[in-house]
Amino acid sequence: MSEHDDSTDSAETAVVTGANSGLGFEVTKGLAERGTHVVMACRSTERGEAAKREIEAEIPEASLEVHELDLADLDSVAAFAEWFASAYDELDVLCNNAGVMAIPRKETAQGFETQFGVNHLGHFALTARLLPVLEQTPGESRVVTQSSVAHRNGEIDFDDLQGERSYSAWGAYGQSKLANVLFGYELDRRLRSADASVESIVCHPGWAATNLQFRGPQQSGSQLRLWMMKLANAVIAQSAERGAEPMLYAATDPSVEGGDFIGPDGFRNMRGSPEVQESSERSYDVDLAQRLWEVSEELTGVSFDRPLLAAT
Ligand SMILES: NC(=O)c1ccc[n+]([C@@H]2O[C@H](COP(=O)([O-])OP(=O)(O)OC[C@H]3O[C@@H](n4cnc5c(N)ncnc54)[C@H](OP(=O)(O)O)[C@@H]3O)[C@@H](O)[C@H]2O)c1
Repeated sequence: MSEHDDSTDSAETAVVTGANSGLGFEVTKGLAERGTHVVMACRSTERGEAAKREIEAEIPEASLEVHELDLADLDSVAAFAEWFASAYDELDVLCNNAGVMAIPRKETAQGFETQFGVNHLGHFALTARLLPVLEQTPGESRVVTQSSVAHRNGEIDFDDLQGERSYSAWGAYGQSKLANVLFGYELDRRLRSADASVESIVCHPGWAATNLQFRGPQQSGSQLRLWMMKLANAVIAQSAERGAEPMLYAATDPSVEGGDFIGPDGFRNMRGSPEVQESSERSYDVDLAQRLWEVSEELTGVSFDRPLLAAT
């Protein structure tokens, strides 16, 4: 709970990454409606504050705080976690939501391919750094990681993780989204074997109309792809509000268990209401998950390496 806001004394506390836009915005709204105090972790505090004002206009009793977090810079991740631990004693829900999709090859501050760096490594480091406060929270706390149906086509290319030799925008997205599932499940296994009071759940939104689909075409300057994405969003996608439901369900529903994979129950799991589903066969590969975990620790320099979370 925040030291500087007495009104949140009995409320649960959540952190939502990418809270200013799309699904993160809707997840923040949904949590705020339930009376949860939400820390909106945004790379632009200006966009974060604008989103906060929009939510407050709709939900005057919302308890929100914006703080800067750039997942493309591990120093920013460390600074966010340090600030959070100094301002809050408890964290009930960490929503690892922010992401980028199918963008041209770029690198994060530490030289990682951006989709792998932001979608997976940034959240890996954030979770490791926030684990102590998640663990010290009374009752059960949850880590919910946002993946995608695109994880089904994903492969982890350990020989070229950063796409330096060969880069495909969709291949890198699939890799990062498979990494989200492998990470979420491996975290769950380690938490269980440590008998920890934290649960790790993975979810995906199906297809929801947000800004996500426009970033790749905008950054590559493809008007045709931009137009196609706008058309597809208008015709096929469900709303961002509905797309946020799996993450909200994973974050709040009492029936959800660590290791669950939650997604929409409708056509091709692209739309509908949240349900527990199976992820791809590859995502259950424990050896693959442990190898990714070790490589992620090495790359980020952040370790879960305490007796509590040693490999099972
Ligand atoms: N929409 C879908 O159909 C769909 C399908 C499958 C999976 N997903 C997943 O859902 C998640 C949310 O996407 P969305 O659809 O809500 O897209 P969105 O509207 O584009 O929102 C993405 C959010 O991530 C933030 N972000 C991007 N790079 C960041 C960084 N370096 N550090 C911190 N935050 C960063 C964005 O901040 P800015 O606003 O500052 O750019 C924005 O707040 C992603 O993980 C995505 O892979 C979405």
